[in-house]
Amino acid sequence: MYLSKVKVNADSIAYLRTSIYFVLHLSSIQLTNFRNYTEQQVLFCEGLNILSGRNGAGKTNLLEAINYLCLTKGYFHSGDSGAINFKEEFFRLQGKFIADERTENISLAFQSGTPKLLKHDEIVYEKLADHIGKFPLVVIAPDDIVLIIEGSEERRKWLDNTISQVNRLYLDDLMQYNRVLVQRNALLKQWYAGQTRDDDLMNVLDEQLVKLGKQIYEERKTSLQILIPLLQKHYAFISDAHETALMNYESLLNENDFSKILLANREKDMILQRTTAGVHRDDLDFLLNEFSIKKFGSQGQKKSFLIALKLAQFDFIAEKKNETPLLLLDDIFDKLDQHRSEKLLADAASKNRGQVFITCTNWNGIIDSEKSSKHFLIESNNVVEAVY
Ligand SMILES: Nc1ncnc2c1ncn2[C@@H]1O[C@H](COP(=O)(O)OP(=O)(O)OP(=O)(O)O)[C@@H](O)[C@H]1O
Ligand SMILES: [Mg+2]
Repeated sequence: MYLSKVKVNADSIAYLRTSIYFVLHLSSIQLTNFRNYTEQQVLFCEGLNILSGRNGAGKTNLLEAINYLCLTKGYFHSGDSGAINFKEEFFRLQGKFIADERTENISLAFQSGTPKLLKHDEIVYEKLADHIGKFPLVVIAPDDIVLIIEGSEERRKWLDNTISQVNRLYLDDLMQYNRVLVQRNALLKQWYAGQTRDDDLMNVLDEQLVKLGKQIYEERKTSLQILIPLLQKHYAFISDAHETALMNYESLLNENDFSKILLANREKDMILQRTTAGVHRDDLDFLLNEFSIKKFGSQGQKKSFLIALKLAQFDFIAEKKNETPLLLLDDIFDKLDQHRSEKLLADAASKNRGQVFITCTNWNGIIDSEKSSKHFLIESNNVVEAVY
């Protein structure tokens, strides 16, 4: 699709506007040996940044670099070694963030076989997790479709990512829960292999798992009470209120006592050598007009649902942090009809969304935005600002 001038419909944008937050923005980035870039600096604007270029030019790679600076890892690819330029041995990313008049420098360097080195204003982080939430961001990308079509793990990851960016204790609980779960599963394996059975040790692990699991469950439930109406609001906006979106929180803990379930499942868990119940099995049921979107939704409806979900995530984070996260929109107009694309673009160009990055293959150069804007052309592994 060739994106054209955006007609910002003031009424519909006002419908979505709730509060005005501080705007977090990335003012510059320096990439060294990162994917197809050997040395590249880009100076972004605080508002709308359009990145256009042919397939394979390096648009998504630039968004990937931004994701690394905010969340210490890639969004589009897992594994850090693949992010090092084919001909090099390490990569380094440096970013200058401006938040509420503060300037903060983040640098991240990685060499295969060594831990990532992350610095905030020259101070090295001991734990990468300490960085999560300082520079929040939301990404909308084509592969997000896995959230709908794949298993529950993808949906939990999304929810955990959302809450972790606003609640450090939640992230700690989650990491701790996963550690205890690994220990419990190892113990189940030992029992199954016929090693001495120590129920007291299992009771201790269960107690820890229950405490952490309940905290995670409560936080997910409370967060979803905010996220669900936001999802509905955004889906109604994108679809002109023709369809109703909903997500239900599915957890065994909704109706059961976690400690009783663990105890009741102990023998079964031993045979299966893993913990079969707990918040690590929670799921979200995505519905459109009360029917499963996975089973009955069209491609465009699925895409609209994902966008509404991500905009809900954006508002949730902005509200909790009183600051707009960065918003990265990778190739999102594919499969959306012209009307929905224009609405989305108008929303991205509005002051609701602080700093936004949009990638596309074609851009006609016209930007009608409520805020500052820049258009970058990406070709031959090089990013240049378009001049008209
Ligand atoms: N580690 C690496 N070293 C060098 N080049 C790499 C590396 N990883 C990926 N690339 C190259 O980066 C390019 C892909 O870039 P990217 O995914 O950012 O493209 P894009 O502009 O988003 O394209 P599309 O419009 O198709 O989505 C490919 O040419 C690929 O070969
Ligand atoms: Mg791409």
